Amino acid sequence: MTPTRLLLAARAQQQPEWASLDDLRRVLRVLEQKPQLVDASVCADLTAELARAAQGEAFVLQIGECAERFADAVPATVLAKADQLHRLADTLAGATGLPIVRMGRIAGQYAKPRSSATESLPDGSVLPVYRGDAVNSPERTMRSRIADPNRLLGAYRHAETTLSTLFERDLGLAGETAPERTYAGHEALLLEFEQALVRPLPDGAGVYGSSGHFLWIGDRTRQLDHEHVQFAASVTNPVGVKIGPKADPDEVAALVRLLNPRRRPGRLSLIVRMGAADIGRRLPGVLDALGEEAAGVVWICDPMHGNTRVSAAGQKTRVLTEIEAEIEGFVSVLRGRGLPVGGLMLETAHTPVTECVATHEELASPFPLPAYETACDPRLGPEQAEAVVAFMADLL
Ligand code: PEP
Ligand code: CO
Repeated sequence: MTPTRLLLAARAQQQPEWASLDDLRRVLRVLEQKPQLVDASVCADLTAELARAAQGEAFVLQIGECAERFADAVPATVLAKADQLHRLADTLAGATGLPIVRMGRIAGQYAKPRSSATESLPDGSVLPVYRGDAVNSPERTMRSRIADPNRLLGAYRHAETTLSTLFERDLGLAGETAPERTYAGHEALLLEFEQALVRPLPDGAGVYGSSGHFLWIGDRTRQLDHEHVQFAASVTNPVGVKIGPKADPDEVAALVRLLNPRRRPGRLSLIVRMGAADIGRRLPGVLDALGEEAAGVVWICDPMHGNTRVSAAGQKTRVLTEIEAEIEGFVSVLRGRGLPVGGLMLETAHTPVTECVATHEELASPFPLPAYETACDPRLGPEQAEAVVAFMADLL
């Protein structure tokens, strides 16, 4: 196998400034020799399930951390997260009668795109920003924020532990009824890591990214002529692209042609995260530009990332009523075009955190939210996640 190319940086956004390129090269050589984390056949099964979601014959539920922590990769935590996913999926299945494609933001959600490269502390000092456990560590010290290539080996190892726990869970539940599989997806942000885990398909007809079943490209890294899109185009996995409020409709149409030239059903999901205020104005333009190709896409709603606010107490948060308003707008625009609603992606915690608020009025409170534990974006607590999923179920 050809050695993974080193920094691509000029043509890739949001790549860390690694502390040592020698270490990076050495780590990539190790990763290139590792077994695949996921099997190509399971990625192909997921593509087939996503094809049904594109037709309105299934629905995708993807939930999990904004920034998954290495410390989450222990069986008790992984199982609690999987149980939350399947509980919510069962609710959706019961309410809609649809099969639910069950996917975590899990087993690889270790790298984050950030809006600023640095973070200022109250004492005036400036630190490189936290970029996910695959890169550095969230503690507010200079040492913690060094981008250490050795952490990529941790990403591999913790993903492996997480995937084997999920696999054994699903296997253990295989009784009278067919087991519901737990698929794993993450943002394919760190290109050298993702490239080092590309493997040939068993039949030799192409390659796949073996780091996870579903790989998505973020709103900040989906430039048509950049390496993230090239990477997604080069692998056969089902892939997603985040579409924010500023997305140019013609550019989205070009992305769809580039990433799914042969119109393989289930190959491409567009994960729309325009915000409650913009969805009704912006999504129609994207659908116009796509024309009949819109029908081949899995349309997934991410009602979290376009609705981030800062409270009077200075915390990043999200308001449930705005999250629900975006879902309502998303469903209404797609329905108006006769397109199926394909899925829902949420940032969730499996423990009762208080990071998102119920109403707009709560933003004005001077008191910080008490159980605010996220390493990155504000997540829904378990009850909030249930409410949002029930809201979506009612609309389906
Ligand atoms: C995310 O899903 O955590 C994320 C960073 O999303 P986006 O690319 O939509 O901002
Ligand atoms: Co996030």
